[in-house]
Parts: sequence; C-alpha cells; structure tokens
Amino acid sequence: MGKPKDQPFEKIPQHIAIIMDGNGRWAKARLLPRMAGHRAGAERLRNIVRACTDLGVRYLTVYAFSTENWKRPADEVNGLMNIFMDFLDKETPELLKEGVQVRHIGSKKELSDALLAKLQACIETTKNNDRLIFTLAINYGGRDEIVHAVQEIVQQGLPADAITDKTISDHLYTAGMPDPDLVIRTSGELRISNFLIWQSAYSEWLFTKTYWPDFNKNKLKEAILDYGTRSRRFGGRTKKEEEEAYNG
Ligand code: IPE
Ligand code: IPE
Ligand code: MG
Repeated sequence: MGKPKDQPFEKIPQHIAIIMDGNGRWAKARLLPRMAGHRAGAERLRNIVRACTDLGVRYLTVYAFSTENWKRPADEVNGLMNIFMDFLDKETPELLKEGVQVRHIGSKKELSDALLAKLQACIETTKNNDRLIFTLAINYGGRDEIVHAVQEIVQQGLPADAITDKTISDHLYTAGMPDPDLVIRTSGELRISNFLIWQSAYSEWLFTKTYWPDFNKNKLKEAILDYGTRSRRFGGRTKKEEEEAYNG
C-alpha cells in the first residue's frame, strides 16, 4: 500500500460514503442543461477519488444511481448511463496506476450489457489494488439489497435461530467491507434516500449545502476534521467517560 501523501489528521475515517447530490440544481443555477451538471459531477468524482488516496482513506463508496432514479425521464437516465461508461473508459488506467480497486454494489439486473461489460472490465483490471477500495453504487437501493440478502438466506435454508447480524451483513452487496465511518450528503437534503441503510446504523453523518459539482478536496478535509471532533459511543460510553467514572 502506498503511503498517504497528505495526512494532517489525527483521526481519519477508514470508510467514507458519499451521496453525491445536487448536480441538477448546480446546472440550473448556471442556466445549463442538467446533463452539464452530471458531467461536472463525474469530473468532481475523479478529483475526490484522488483526494481520498492522498489522504489515506481506505474505502470510498459513492451513490451514483439509486433504484429509484429509474423514475427520471429516459433521456436523463440514458445520459447518466453514458456518463458512467465514459467514466469507466477514461478512468480505469489512472485508477489502476493509483492503486485503486473498483467494486460495484447494486442490482445488475436492470443494467445494460454494455455498462456491465465496462464495469466488469474495470473491476477485473483493478482487482489486485489495495490502496483505496472505491465502490460505485449504481442501481443500488438499501431496501433492494436487504430483500436480495433475505432471498439468498432463505434459499440456503438456514434455520431461523441461526440468523444473526453477521448473516445479514455477509449477504449484503457490501459483504466483507467495513461499515462507513462517515457518510457525507451534498446539496442540503437531510435524508438517507435508501443509501446503505443497514451499514450506516452507527455512521457519523455530515450534511453540506454545497452541490456535488462544487465539492472539493478542501471540503473533504473539512468533513474529515469535523469527523475528528465526534465522539462515537455506539450506545456505550467513551473510554474518557469510563475513566472519569462520573455517574452524577
Ligand atoms: C445527483 O444529482 C445525481 C443523481 C441522483 C443521479 P441530482 O440529479 O439528484 O441533482 P438535484 O438533486 O436534482 O439537484
Ligand atoms: C440520491 O439522490 C441518489 C443519488 C445521489 C444517486 P436523489 O436526488 O435521487 O434523492 P432524492 O430523490 O432527492 O431523495
Ligand atoms: Mg437529487
């Protein structure tokens, strides 16, 4: 694994997940077509992947297309699919060079053969990298993921009382990955929109009004600094609280 270039933080989230929202409003504010917003968003993503490798983040998971985004007009959906294919074509050599391993989470069922082929090629090309695990959530929905997990578990015929948290986690698309430490949502919306609903049970959240195409390395650093001030208790008490033994 390459040494991080730029690690000024005491506490760095191992896994950052991002709901990349606000491309449409970014474009509208500039009197540009929505597609220009999505293209600017893809450009931003490549910078943020690079920033994560520089900062020593180990996992980056980004919400690129939800199971609900099929409700959008066909030209926007097709435009987005083309942007994903373009991104994979253009970025795979750089991702390979930078030590980034690409993964996909989401249902493959509705995705086109052309997109699946490019995704598969990128995943295969980068599979031995381990500096940053970069996961693209395309046609991803948290509920769909849980339904899929339950179907697999039932098909395997597991007895009810053998099912634990871990059984569920192991059947999710994210099996084997640590849960996100920090989830960032851009654009000012204060909701989860079906993203990593199981995995983010104890994640720290950061909401910013910045539209995704304006999000940058400095804003990411600010988010990481903010994360560093959080006291994660997971329902228990911090070590410091235990030491103080204040039961007042
Ligand atoms: C996020 O930007 C990209 C996707 C959901 C695919 P939006 O297209 O949702 O942008 P807003 O929320 O309309 O501004
Ligand atoms: C969430 O954004 C999905 C992605 C960023 C891919 P949306 O724009 O689809 O979410 P809602 O509809 O505002 O909740
Ligand atoms: Mg949106």
